[in-house]
Amino acid sequence: MTAGGAGAANSARTHTKEGAAEKEVSLTRSDGVAVITLNRPRVVNAINSSVREQLPLAVAAAERDSNVRVIMVRGAGQKGFCGGADITEFEAPPSALAARTATQAITWIDVLAQARKPTIAAIHGYCLGGGLEIALACDIRIATADATFGMPEVGLAIIPGAGGTQHLPRAVGLSNALRLILTGERIDATAALQMGLVSEVVPTGELGTRAESLARRIASHAPQAVAFAKEAVRQGSELPLSAGMRLERDLSALLMGTADRLEAATAFRERRKPMFRGE
Ligand code: COA
Repeated sequence: MTAGGAGAANSARTHTKEGAAEKEVSLTRSDGVAVITLNRPRVVNAINSSVREQLPLAVAAAERDSNVRVIMVRGAGQKGFCGGADITEFEAPPSALAARTATQAITWIDVLAQARKPTIAAIHGYCLGGGLEIALACDIRIATADATFGMPEVGLAIIPGAGGTQHLPRAVGLSNALRLILTGERIDATAALQMGLVSEVVPTGELGTRAESLARRIASHAPQAVAFAKEAVRQGSELPLSAGMRLERDLSALLMGTADRLEAATAFRERRKPMFRGE
């Protein structure tokens, strides 16, 4: 999908038959887990300009909320996680310069890809184009057995523009990524698991429970350690090994004096669960 997304900014809300306004990206929070839902089920949650506006706002709100430890992204409706960029909004930008200026700004996907808190994509059904790019911006991807993945952009005379050409090869290797991006072919959940695109495939109907249980497990750990572990892995993957090792040592050293580290040791001695406070 294109990074900037052509087309006039639509209303940030869609209207149900009853006339009640419903957000196209919703955010709910409970027990340390924020759930962000792509909420345009009638069009397989296609990414329009409202979604590009609202998704980063939802991620930012979850990042700001100190009660939130983990962010989950899911798609509403039966058909799938997300069918990619809203093709009905495709139109030529006013000029090449305007298009380039738009792509130089921090894009909507960066806010998710650069989230400090751990992110989980819970994927069912279609996960195509920009939908796959949203999933790739997350740290962990789990999918139902009926999930279908693909990068159809070249068939639409564009290329993935929300990180797909960069995140996909890092997730599945150059050869697998090039095959998906150049052919536009779709793969099923088994193939996605085999190439490491997802880390787990669950029966349809168990996705929510499994994603929540993963999220709650992460949320039960010391938040600062979780954030630093993510930073070490994410930043380290962009560094030469020696610099990555140095980053890991620095972050480890910073955690040596935390109250949570002492609490973990005390809880171990007292044979109880630790109560982490993020300090
Ligand atoms: N943009 C806009 N509308 C989309 C869409 C997209 N990316 N993906 C699905 N829709 C709409 C369809 O137009 C249809 O709307 P309608 O009921 O008003 O006709 C509705 O969602 C349901 O999709 P439909 O095609 O009828 O369902 P399906 O099960 O037969 O197929 C898909 C689902 C996702 C495989 C198919 O819609 C598709 O190929 N979509 C485009 C995927 C794509 O190329 N995305 C990348 C864009 S870069």
